[in-house]
Amino acid sequence: MSKSQYDLVVFGATSFVGQILTRYLHEQFGVGGNLKWAIAGRSRSKLDQIQSNLGRSAQELPVLVADASDDQAMRALCDQTRVVISTVGPYALYGEPLIRACVESGTDYCDLTGEVQWLRRMITSYQDQAEASGARIVNCCGFDSIPSDLGVYFLQKEGQQRFGQPFTRIKMRVRAAKGEFSGGTVASLLNVVKEARADPALRKELANPYSLCPPNHGFTARQPNVKSAEYDADFQAWTAPFVMAAINTRVVHRSNALSGGGYGRDFRYDEAVLTGRGLKGRGTALGVAGAMGGFMLGAAMKPTRWVLERFVVPKPGEGPSPEAQKKGFYDLRFFGESPEGQRLRARVTGDQDPGYGSTGKMLGQAGVCLAKDLAESDRAGGFWTPSTAMGDQLLERLKAHAGMTFEVLE
Ligand SMILES: NC(=O)c1ccc[n+]([C@@H]2O[C@H](COP(=O)([O-])OP(=O)(O)OC[C@H]3O[C@@H](n4cnc5c(N)ncnc54)[C@H](OP(=O)(O)O)[C@@H]3O)[C@@H](O)[C@H]2O)c1
Repeated sequence: MSKSQYDLVVFGATSFVGQILTRYLHEQFGVGGNLKWAIAGRSRSKLDQIQSNLGRSAQELPVLVADASDDQAMRALCDQTRVVISTVGPYALYGEPLIRACVESGTDYCDLTGEVQWLRRMITSYQDQAEASGARIVNCCGFDSIPSDLGVYFLQKEGQQRFGQPFTRIKMRVRAAKGEFSGGTVASLLNVVKEARADPALRKELANPYSLCPPNHGFTARQPNVKSAEYDADFQAWTAPFVMAAINTRVVHRSNALSGGGYGRDFRYDEAVLTGRGLKGRGTALGVAGAMGGFMLGAAMKPTRWVLERFVVPKPGEGPSPEAQKKGFYDLRFFGESPEGQRLRARVTGDQDPGYGSTGKMLGQAGVCLAKDLAESDRAGGFWTPSTAMGDQLLERLKAHAGMTFEVLE
């Protein structure tokens, strides 16, 4: 076995999003071409089926069998490749042995986790080892949190060029989006709520906007947080809480910390959903806030969680149909303001449903960016965010190959 056998391995190719990702990589890179890649998972028969569904041109696509709980199998996987992409979640339940194998073997890694509590644990346990081995670990490479993290990165770069300083306040507002949750995402969300209910220290940590920053970050600015229906004068519309804000805002603050406070020590950032103007906008905002509160409450209590898991939410492996993925999209607006009142707006869009069609492409390009663009880079080992690990290189890939746009609104 040699690390140069593969550029990347997709671990969890049988998951709902792993299948989308595998189809995407096959369409983009084929098999036996410039990208040497393989699919992996715990079930040989399911993997063979995925490979055969891709058609004759994928006959030579290598298939590797490994269980996420088997340390030796995780190490053997890492020893054959330079990058592992993992979609095996909930990561808090299955993800640690692979992270350990990557940091021990110096293998680059990216995933789709949005589980703050697990990320905090992994950073605390393995940052030093990753630095020592050179493994670049990049979590949150899906809808949470690439559009937010790179959207802020993009707006800050434009602001720097125009005004010579970063924006100390940025807002992200979801103007429009169409998509559904998959079973894996809901399972991860329910697991976070379950862990938090049993652990007061974790609840406190989840409420800390800087919980993913390194211990010496020194940020003290009080962060805004849309918790209920609120009117936003900058967008002249009502807003409601955004379900992904809890992870996205933490990733953006970690990017600020890892870039040496490049957005400023007093940088403030929040996310919300725009629900429109007038009474209708207010009513929708109240409805969204109420529904979100109801779901969280239901997920926190054992009997209602049981009902949600069994009857209401999709099961692991389930998710939106291919038609629904194609019809999906998102349109995110960013608003930046400097202390002197200089302002700039930007828009980030994606051409398929956020959580699956678009996420599969983002994750694929993040893995390829690590394998190809960062192969010779001197980016050190450690836990990075998408923007601090890959910045412009990933941004260009997403614009060219993943149906995303990043543009300033004059
Ligand atoms: N960031 C985002 O925007 C975003 C979007 C979508 C999903 N996600 C996250 O991505 C993850 C995957 O979501 P999904 O809906 O695609 O999940 P899913 O369909 O439920 O698939 C779970 C995967 O984990 C595999 N698995 C479970 N236990 C394993 C083990 N012991 N060893 C090896 N493989 C194992 C399953 O293999 P089998 O097929 O053999 O059972 C399957 O491939 C979730 O954590 C979800 O929260 C994030």
